Amino acid sequence: MPTVLITGSNRGLGLEFTRQYLAAGWQVIATCRDPDGAEDLQALQRQHASLRLAALDVADFASIDRAAEALSGHAIDVLLNNAGVFGPRPVDGRDPRQSFGSIDYGIWADVLRVNLMAPMKMAEAFVTHVAASGQRKIVAISSTEGCIETAKGGIYAYRTSKAALNMLMRNLGRDLAARGIVTAAFCPGWIRTRMGGAAAPLEAPPSIEGLRRVIDGLTPAESGRFWLWTGAALPW
Ligand SMILES: NC(=O)c1ccc[n+]([C@@H]2O[C@H](COP(=O)([O-])OP(=O)(O)OC[C@H]3O[C@@H](n4cnc5c(N)ncnc54)[C@H](OP(=O)(O)O)[C@@H]3O)[C@@H](O)[C@H]2O)c1
Repeated sequence: MPTVLITGSNRGLGLEFTRQYLAAGWQVIATCRDPDGAEDLQALQRQHASLRLAALDVADFASIDRAAEALSGHAIDVLLNNAGVFGPRPVDGRDPRQSFGSIDYGIWADVLRVNLMAPMKMAEAFVTHVAASGQRKIVAISSTEGCIETAKGGIYAYRTSKAALNMLMRNLGRDLAARGIVTAAFCPGWIRTRMGGAAAPLEAPPSIEGLRRVIDGLTPAESGRFWLWTGAALPW
């Protein structure tokens, strides 16, 4: 039975990944900041012996090291960097902290830490767990908001964090190829979650079904690429 470790698994896309991997018979290590308050995960744990919950705040690198140490000796087939933050929303121009002329640099640093540096720290902390597995995949949920070719202006913290995350996954693909590890970045589409909001056109289940299919099909020859949930290759 393969194992997936998911960050930010208590709600949104991370919770849907957890549900679907459990239903598909995987061993799931569902991590989140507050497992004691994660009621949906606890309900799933009552139904699935193959679900393990673990505390992991991706912004706290000591917390990542502690989780990796607690799981030492466990092979992880898919390390799934899902946790992410958007930063302040510029709705109707009322919160301009990600807009030119009024950037909040503290917030930008916080967004970069969660969306960009944490996936790097996760890869460093868990590389031996992944290398010991059968599938050997490190993947990250990015966004087409990070596409350089189609940049629309504004939303600097989120967009730069995802553009840099794409570079990170490509670079990691090169560095980890010798250990047989394949990497990828994905856009899940615009999905109705707390981050995606009520106006989003898609629900999580079809997107996550598609992403699991793409993850299942990843090959070393395609390591480091950026994919849409449908399996279409995305431009940088
Ligand atoms: N929804 C969309 O339309 C969309 C589109 C493109 C990309 N994405 C990406 O997809 C991923 C999941 O997004 P979502 O829509 O599910 O967002 P969401 O509903 O806001 O959920 C975000 C998840 O990330 C967790 N998280 C945030 N900071 C964390 C930290 N420091 N440590 C651990 N977990 C942390 C949250 O945990 P808490 O409950 O503890 O805050 C929550 O579980 C993100 O990377 C996002 O950028 C989403």
